Amino acid sequence: MSVGIDLISFYTSRYYLGLESLAQARGVDYEKYRSGLGQEKMAIPPPDEDVITMGASAAKPILDQIDVNDVELLLFATESGVDQSKAAGLFVHGLLNLSNRCRVVELKEACYSGTAALQLAAAQISQSLHSTKALVIASDVARYDLGSPGEPTQGCGAVAMLVTLNPRILALDPEAGFHAADVMDFWRPSYRDEALVDGKFSTKVYLDTAVSAWEHYVERSGRTISELYRFCYHLPFTRMGIKAHERVLQAAEGSNDTAKHASEAVSEGFAYTRDTGNSYTASLFESFACLLDNNSELAGKRIGLFSYGSGCMGEFFSGVVDPEYQKHLFSADHKAMLEDRTQLAYQEYEDIFNLKVPEDGWKYVFAQYRTGPFRFGGIEEHKRVYEAVET
Ligand code: CAA
Repeated sequence: MSVGIDLISFYTSRYYLGLESLAQARGVDYEKYRSGLGQEKMAIPPPDEDVITMGASAAKPILDQIDVNDVELLLFATESGVDQSKAAGLFVHGLLNLSNRCRVVELKEACYSGTAALQLAAAQISQSLHSTKALVIASDVARYDLGSPGEPTQGCGAVAMLVTLNPRILALDPEAGFHAADVMDFWRPSYRDEALVDGKFSTKVYLDTAVSAWEHYVERSGRTISELYRFCYHLPFTRMGIKAHERVLQAAEGSNDTAKHASEAVSEGFAYTRDTGNSYTASLFESFACLLDNNSELAGKRIGLFSYGSGCMGEFFSGVVDPEYQKHLFSADHKAMLEDRTQLAYQEYEDIFNLKVPEDGWKYVFAQYRTGPFRFGGIEEHKRVYEAVET
């Protein structure tokens, strides 16, 4: 019996900064961002949006289609969690009225933990004696210091996936390739809101990890690269996906003439990330959702996926797309959401960036911005207050 992704839904902020504005403010040629990094916009969460509201908003369209009592596992993957102790998934559990008979936990390993959540959920569902479902949510806000090289790769977004037996989108293959190592390429001490990164080194570690995880995947599966039809990568910025696939092609085929093939194999999964920026744990799945929404010929095809989390952990895995997958996508909603966003002026971006959640324990009610169905309404006695948005 197969196990994998039954439904997949993506959500991002209703606000973005065009990278032309950022380039102008930083005195940088916009082409560096547009063609050098492959990025055009970065999604900026307003003050009443965070990983909880984005994750719940991504999951709601899925839960609207099922009996919520069937969800017995909720795994929430994030790098930008809001509490050192309480799992982000428990806030979402409340907002979405999930059953009390549900196992809920938060997972962390930089941008990788969404993949760990997916694989752990698949393992639990395949072993379950009952016909249960798992909800995996990957949700993040990517933040770097103002004026730093990482700044143009900021962004935010969330992806929710329902994991079941006989999935209607992607049946996961049992084989996966791993690469783990203790390196300091990107990290965020608990006292910082912005990540620290050794930028050039991080891209080298990412590329070496992709090759190593690919080679392990080949050893485990016995497959050749020609058995995979399309590839999705973790995308800190979209050019990274091309570079990574070129390296994997070189390792697989021993050829240096890989640029055109690399672009063909990965770029259908770029459009959403180009317009949102990095969404850390959600990024790989944002790219997969984009591929599904933009290619109508994936039925029965095997897709390769590479997940990377700095620190570092990489995993190459694969799955086969269901013949009927197009009937179960949220493509129109994804595209409408991305088209209906508000562009921020540079100063508005900087003002939002500099706002901090009050730390004095008094009661605060936040101004209402454009969000999805849920918002972060305020804070009282150090407790975050979330609410459904009246429509
Ligand atoms: N026109 C066109 N292209 C231009 C250009 C111009 N005027 N100016 C520069 N470029 C090109 C450069 O040639 C370069 O392309 P190549 O890499 O193909 O040579 C590209 O634009 C970027 O230029 P730089 O390398 O000079 O850029 P930078 O050093 O200022 O910043 C970065 C690049 C280090 C990746 C930085 O964006 C960064 O620190 N990002 C955050 C860290 C990151 O995303 N790392 C990726 C791997 S780690 C990971 O994946 C985990 C994660 O999510 C963070």
